Amino acid sequence: MSGQNPTASKNTWNSRWTFILAAAGSAIGLGNIWKFPYIAGQYGGGAFVLMYMLFIVMIGVPLLMAEAAIGRSTRLSPLNAMRKLTSDLGISRAWNGIAWMGMLTGFVILTFYSVIAGWSLSYAFELLTGHFAGMSPAEVGSEFDGLVMSASRQTFWHTVFMGITIFVTARGIHKGLEKGLQVMMPTLFLLLIVMLGYSMLATGEFMRGFHFMFDFNLSNLTGEAVVAAMGQAFFTLSLGMCALMAYGAYMPANNSIPRTALNVAFLDTLMAIISGLIVFPIVYAHGMEPSAGPGLLFVSLTSAFASMSGGSLVGFIFFALVGIAALSSAISLIEPSLAWVTERFSMSRATATILIGGLVWFVGLANVLSFNHWAEVKILGRGFFDLFADATDLILLPLGGALTAIFAGWVMKRSVLANELSMDTGMFNVWLALIRIVVPASVLLVLISALT
Ligand code: PHE
Ligand code: NA
Repeated sequence: MSGQNPTASKNTWNSRWTFILAAAGSAIGLGNIWKFPYIAGQYGGGAFVLMYMLFIVMIGVPLLMAEAAIGRSTRLSPLNAMRKLTSDLGISRAWNGIAWMGMLTGFVILTFYSVIAGWSLSYAFELLTGHFAGMSPAEVGSEFDGLVMSASRQTFWHTVFMGITIFVTARGIHKGLEKGLQVMMPTLFLLLIVMLGYSMLATGEFMRGFHFMFDFNLSNLTGEAVVAAMGQAFFTLSLGMCALMAYGAYMPANNSIPRTALNVAFLDTLMAIISGLIVFPIVYAHGMEPSAGPGLLFVSLTSAFASMSGGSLVGFIFFALVGIAALSSAISLIEPSLAWVTERFSMSRATATILIGGLVWFVGLANVLSFNHWAEVKILGRGFFDLFADATDLILLPLGGALTAIFAGWVMKRSVLANELSMDTGMFNVWLALIRIVVPASVLLVLISALT
């Protein structure tokens, strides 16, 4: 990107666009393209989608601002940021638990994120070889079952994905992150628009998909759906695990945090909605069910690629870009623990990345096996994949987010936040009310109602 400053300090991004790009890169990923359509499908569409958007606005945007402000005010890794703040304020070190929990949460998410990203890479490869061309939706469905049943194929692609993540992360924030994202995120967006065009013009079911997503049907709004919508809001914006705090530490002082937060939330939501508008019409056109679960994207969309002309090439580009979107998220999942390990053990970034990434890879094998050889192994009624996914997005992310909000709203010095956010007093007070009351109260209410 132009306007780079060759002498920019090692610890801030090169250009003022990079934070937006990095935060959007973290936010936009499997959560938008894979997860959003499938859980919206499982929870019946409209009402879930509306709750989700409400949570994005009421909780997501204010919390995104809080995380970035905390990170930028200290310019340290999340754990050291929390340590500095708690010791400067002379308060209990228990607050540092926010950062410990964030590192753990990011680690756990990455163990399954990488497996799903591996599915995308596998699909990119298979599409490139023309393997899916001409297959019926049923055949595509059994291809997907075959992948999920094969521990070795999934392990292979999980290894490839973690390998790339380690490689890019180890190269550091400038060389590793900035360059790639500048090309790939816009390309992904363009391709989504192309696919949207396909689903509008070629499926004949666009309006049905549209109504499924946007017709507000109150009877679909179960407690479980509300919890899921909130969890998805956190997950999709990368909130509640200090990822954006870690990125905020690299953010130039003259970037506007509120404007950036709005941009990121808008782009992320747009990508999720477009993904839904692509997937559901295709699902209907092939007589499939929106509630199919985690395989939804890999079966419905691939059926479209299998039947359209040039579908193998378009499909290859599509899944390759999904893999890349997942990569930019994976990097942010690892960043909080990585930043801490390099600071704490004065270890090189590369060594630390290999250590942490290797551990993630190893634990990730439990997720791979939970689909096949360990399908019978249940903890709290769930296999490892479901356990890790539910524990992180239904509990750890909302809890981490609520604690971050309470810390920012009730404990931190108001002048520090006002200075970072630099909004007019009225807007600042709105933000403060959301952070102090609305965010913690909603999380509490939703979690309590979920547990009772
Ligand atoms: N926001 C990412 C996505 O939607 C996932 C993620 C969660 C990344 C938490 C970082 C932190 O795919
Ligand atoms: Na997202």
